[in-house]
Formats: sequence, structure tokens, C-alpha cells
Amino acid sequence: MEPLRVFSDHVEILDQRQLPQAVRYFNAHRASDVVEAIRTLAVRGAPAIGIAGLYGLWLEARYLAEAGESGFMDKLLVAAQQLRHVRPTAVNLSWAIDRALGRLTPGPADEVVTRLRDMADTLRQEEEERNARMAQLGAQLLPNRDSRVLTHCNTGSLATVGVGTALGVIREGYRQGRVAMVWVDETRPLLQGSRLTAWELLQDQIPATLITDSMAAGLMQQGQVDAVFVGADRIALNGDTANKVGTYGLAVLAQYHRIPFYVVAPVSTIDEHIASGQDIPIEERQADEVRLIRGVPIAPEGMAVKNPAFDVTPYALISAIITDRGVVYPPFDQKLRQLLEEDRHA
Ligand code: MRU
Repeated sequence: MEPLRVFSDHVEILDQRQLPQAVRYFNAHRASDVVEAIRTLAVRGAPAIGIAGLYGLWLEARYLAEAGESGFMDKLLVAAQQLRHVRPTAVNLSWAIDRALGRLTPGPADEVVTRLRDMADTLRQEEEERNARMAQLGAQLLPNRDSRVLTHCNTGSLATVGVGTALGVIREGYRQGRVAMVWVDETRPLLQGSRLTAWELLQDQIPATLITDSMAAGLMQQGQVDAVFVGADRIALNGDTANKVGTYGLAVLAQYHRIPFYVVAPVSTIDEHIASGQDIPIEERQADEVRLIRGVPIAPEGMAVKNPAFDVTPYALISAIITDRGVVYPPFDQKLRQLLEEDRHA
């Protein structure tokens, strides 16, 4: 299932808020449509919002070029700023927009439109290939026997544009006979695990069992989890990793129970400007996401709420980071810098 379908004059976005009940795409014609889709999580997942953001910039360039208004470049830059700030934690979004702007050379509007479309298509293909490489590398870390792996949030095709990051490893591991079963954390508050990951695994007929987030500890204590695989929204240079809220708790549990804890992320998720997790901005979302489940109140009206969408797992709790340029083991610092360097020159 593709999160985005791209046409010559618009982009169709799969409305992930409606999954698994309904599979519906809606049309985006301008950057503002994409900003709204990213803000409301119609499209979500670090790599997917980077790609969506870049297509949003292309759509805006198309619109401005056709409208023939003055100040084409200035208006495009305003749209770029709106896109790059809409979700602050996943670095892929600002990275994709900044990289595209840095590669744009001044020229006629039509040329800018074509160039942005090319860059968005290229990024999409690059991310797909990165997923495939991570899946191969990560599957080798699973013992060559039937593993029971636990995952959090959704890191599959819906969050990327290929087989996925952590879910890509799980898919490949299953294909190779190394994964017997997947424990799927429901992932409160927005239920990306139960709505999206469970749905993807069922479609692939990979044996999976849904649990509420609070059940992971007991299962680990009973020896029913062999490894944990999660994705990432931003990785600092020291290896500290921001991912969906609840990931840090799983990492603490995994260390206590001596279970390997793996982060799977493309090099585009490593932030070369951030030394440690302390500097990663954490998105705080609306209180009603916690007070309500799909519009139904589950708490007294007006109840005070804290709703950080992500938390940071310190590098010391991570067994390895699986990137498209190789698997890195602690200490991460030098190796992550080296991967970024290699990626820049590729
Ligand atoms: O708020 P979301 O649904 O965008 O959060 C997604 C995650 O936290 C994923 O684990 C992360 O983006 C890695 S996806 C390949």
C-alpha cells in the first residue's frame, strides 16, 4: 500500500487516519494541502513525511508558475518554511526540504518546477532502495531460527515508501525463516501499531499478535521476546534516538531482560547538526489525542494532559543501529559521522 501516488499535476495521499476501516486517498494540489496532511497525520512516519514535504514543494512551485504571479521564488520559500516546520521531531522533513533548496539553481519558474519534481522522484527512489538494504542487513542479526520480535509504532510501507525500516527487517526476516511471530505494540495514543502495523502484517500473512503497550514488560519477563526492532525519527551523532513515545521504556525493559534492542533507520534520519538527544526537539501534540480515542471520550472533559509524541532512547540502551550504509555498534559517534560522510560523497 503506497502512502503517496504521484501524478503529473497532483499527489494522492492515503488518509492513514481512516485506516484500517477505510482505504481512501485524497488529492493534494498545493503545499498547504500537504502541510495539513502532515500536521494531522494523514501521512506520517519520518521518511514518508520527508518525501511528502518535497512533493508539496513541487506542487507549490507548479501552482505559482501556472498562476504567473510575481515573486515566484519568495513565495516558494515561504511554502518551504511552512512545510519544514510542520512536524519538528522527524529530521527527514527539514532535511529533504533544505537539501532540495540547497540544490536549486536560480532559473525560470518552469525549470524550478521540473527540478523539484526530479528531486522528489529521486528521493523517493533513494529511500526505497535504502529500505531494501536495511532489510537485508537487519535480517542477518536475527538468529537463524524462529525469533519472536517486538515492534512499536508503524515503520512499514505506510511510514516509508518501500518495505519499511524496522518492519522491513521483520518482513525480510520472516521471508528467510528467522521470524516466527511479531508482537505488535498498539502504540498509544494514536494507535499506529494496532491500526497500521497490524494491518500491514495481516496483509503479508506474517504471524502477529497485538498487545497493549503495558504488556511488553510481562512478556519479556516470561522470555517471550527475542529481540526488539524499532524505527527512528531523528538520531543524534552520539546515537541517542528519538522515536515514537514508549520506545525509551521498551529499551530500558530490553536491557533489564538482556534482549537485543535494534534501531533501524536510513542515514537520512541521522542529524549531523545534533550532538546528543538533549537537543532533539520533541513534538507536543493536542490534548484531545489522549482524552479521546477516535472521537470517544475516555477521560473527564478538561482533564489536564501531557502528550509528547516522541521520546529519546539514550545510545547506551541500543545494541546496534541498522542503516542502509551498514550496521553500527556502540560507541556510535565516529561511525555515524563516517556514514554521513560516505553518504555525502555517494
Ligand atoms: O507520529 P508518527 O506516526 O509519524 O511516528 C512515526 C514513528 O515514530 C516511526 O517509528 C518513525 O517515524 C520511524 S518510521 C520508518
